[in-house]
Amino acid sequence: MATIGILGAGEVGSQLARAAVAHGHDVVLANSRGPETLTALVDELGPSARAAPVAEAAAAADFAIIAFPYRPDDDLPVDELAGKIVLDTNNYMAWRDGHHPVVDSGEQTEHELRQAQLPKSKLAKAFTHLQAPNLFRLAKNADDPARLALAVSSNHPEAVELVTRLYDAFGFDTVDNSPLSESWRSAPGTVMWQFHDTGQRREDLVRNLARARPGTRP
Ligand SMILES: NC(=O)c1ccc[n+]([C@@H]2O[C@H](COP(=O)([O-])OP(=O)(O)OC[C@H]3O[C@@H](n4cnc5c(N)ncnc54)[C@H](OP(=O)(O)O)[C@@H]3O)[C@@H](O)[C@H]2O)c1
Repeated sequence: MATIGILGAGEVGSQLARAAVAHGHDVVLANSRGPETLTALVDELGPSARAAPVAEAAAAADFAIIAFPYRPDDDLPVDELAGKIVLDTNNYMAWRDGHHPVVDSGEQTEHELRQAQLPKSKLAKAFTHLQAPNLFRLAKNADDPARLALAVSSNHPEAVELVTRLYDAFGFDTVDNSPLSESWRSAPGTVMWQFHDTGQRREDLVRNLARARPGTRP
């Protein structure tokens, strides 16, 4: 069981915290406003959870989750996350985040940009195409033929392994869509994205990732 630093405690961060605690992990939560604003969530999660400033949550983590949108000027706890696996839930949506020209041109993915912000960490794009409220509702046992799959992308095999174990524990199969330069295939607007409400089984997700075409973004 791990201590997971969850940076960003909104819709996704709080739901991943619930799942992590339900599966026996400890969580240290952080947001942009400060730990005193997370009292209600920590109370709900119980003794396995606490809130801390961002750098402290990152330092306490065996691995971390970043659950807020990418911004070029993000001030991330680079040293506290050095050597650690970091899961990034971000989806690039230009209507919300503004345009990132190197992403729009296909030169780099937003997750390569995030990896560049954390050069000493092992980044994985994970949990991006499941609506947070569905995390528990769509979970299924490993032997259920209707089990759904989630994609992961990373330049680091050990990060893919960790995400695969986490997906499995949370009730999902894994499709490895690595490296990070391929992560555009699971971005909003792609073929697979049409199923982000209902989920898709492994073979459907593999096929839909392969059917992605560049330049389809909201
Ligand atoms: N919502 C979903 O179902 C879903 C599913 C998959 C992926 N995603 C993606 O996951 C990301 C988060 O989505 P969300 O819906 O959870 O957003 P959200 O509800 O707006 O929550 C964002 C959280 O991040 C915190 N935050 C923002 N900047 C921060 C910083 N620099 N350091 C630490 N914390 C920071 C915010 O803190 P404050 O409130 O204190 O500002 C808030 O707790 C987005 O990129 C989204 O596209 C969302």
